[in-house]
Amino acid sequence: MRSMGMPIFGESADASKQSVAQRHVRSDEIALAARLLTRVLRGDNLEVVIHRHGGQAATPRITAWLYGSCRHFFSLSEQLTRLCHIPLAKLDYDVLAVLLLGAYQLIHSDAKRHAIVSESVAATTILRKSAAGLVNAVLRKIDTAYEPETTVGQLELPDWFIAEFRATYGESLLQQLAASMMTRAPLSLRVNQTKIDPMSFQGALWEQGIAFVELYRPSTIRLCKPRPIASIPGYAEGWFAVQDANAQLAVHALQVEPGMHVLDACAAPGNKTLQLLERAANLTALDADASRGAWLKTESQRLGMQISIETADATTRSWWDGEPFDRILIDAPCSATGTIARHPDVKMHRAQDQLPLLANLQERLLNNLWELLSENGLLVYCTCSLLRQENEYVISEFIAQHRDVQVEAISEGAPGNPLSQKMAHGVQLFPDPNWGDGFYVSKLRKLAA
Ligand SMILES: C[S@@+](CC[C@H](N)C(=O)[O-])C[C@H]1O[C@@H](n2cnc3c(N)ncnc32)[C@H](O)[C@@H]1O
Repeated sequence: MRSMGMPIFGESADASKQSVAQRHVRSDEIALAARLLTRVLRGDNLEVVIHRHGGQAATPRITAWLYGSCRHFFSLSEQLTRLCHIPLAKLDYDVLAVLLLGAYQLIHSDAKRHAIVSESVAATTILRKSAAGLVNAVLRKIDTAYEPETTVGQLELPDWFIAEFRATYGESLLQQLAASMMTRAPLSLRVNQTKIDPMSFQGALWEQGIAFVELYRPSTIRLCKPRPIASIPGYAEGWFAVQDANAQLAVHALQVEPGMHVLDACAAPGNKTLQLLERAANLTALDADASRGAWLKTESQRLGMQISIETADATTRSWWDGEPFDRILIDAPCSATGTIARHPDVKMHRAQDQLPLLANLQERLLNNLWELLSENGLLVYCTCSLLRQENEYVISEFIAQHRDVQVEAISEGAPGNPLSQKMAHGVQLFPDPNWGDGFYVSKLRKLAA
């Protein structure tokens, strides 16, 4: 459903409060930001929109406005609904985007109030919308101290997600999780051990005065402050990859040994493929979407590795040569609800009625690929979802239909990360600014028939 964990673009390391705080807002910047936000309101992925349609013109400040408007989408919409005489759903998307961006800046930036209002009004002219009066009237009335009245506005999450999460994990974790999702996700690295050992890489960070924390193991590192990736020592040499710390656990759980025949079934854009390649030379990587394989080409060159993703549907076997796999990773397509801190547009785009379709695809992937696993082999199923319909329910259903499955305990993650829960069939990690994205991991061993 989205390009999870793709470390190509992301929220700019410069999109800090400092750049948001610049006092001179300009109508042309607001107009560009509104054009980009309109695409997101229509359903496009924020990260891809900024990269593909914003390009160089999408400055750190514009990027910060866009991420901020998406992060605060529900409280901004709640206040705008009260102030606007037209229902928001009936507004032209560009006009709605100007209102969201204006309200966001008024509440969350230090720019002058009159400048934000007048430049937003001028932006409507650039966008050729006759909405100057409406934008002026609404933005002038924005209350910068507004306290949202609905739970949706207070938690900045959609109502179906709140109900679902509350029912599964309870009120206290819901509140904790909602706060985490409003905090920017951390920048984590994986040391590329084909190039450098973890302690030498940590030494290089120390030498440059870059503060970091080791998570789970010496090769998994969170930087205390985000910074441009190219400024981290060893970037050009391929000493590290950018990869969420919790996302790294799925590959560790797979326990790949040299010489094993390994399948990465849902591989694109290829973060875990590259992690697997550090151990597995005999690796097949598949993905159904041919358009998602391009990043891997340049990234694998930087890391000094060679691999390409084969375009194939892993719910079929037409691509398989008949040789069983010792290890299979299914990093399944999912709602990506564990990545909302990193991708705030996810909460605007996901709907509850998408879940049965996703669960059906997840079940078909599992059922098909289980048959390709050798006896005593391991299959790791993971998602970056927080929802039981895509995690525990999928695995329960699978176990109920197969006699040759044994769920294995996952030692990684649960002991170290306080925000992780051991589930009946795996581990659920919750998003946390000190650890990373929300992830579910289940490890299944194939028993002799
Ligand atoms: C969570 S993403 C994978 C992320 C990737 N493993 C990584 O670490 O960079 C899920 C992927 O599953 C792919 N996918 C969806 N349906 C598929 C299918 N039937 N067969 C193979 N891949 C599929 C999507 O195109 C998407 O790239």
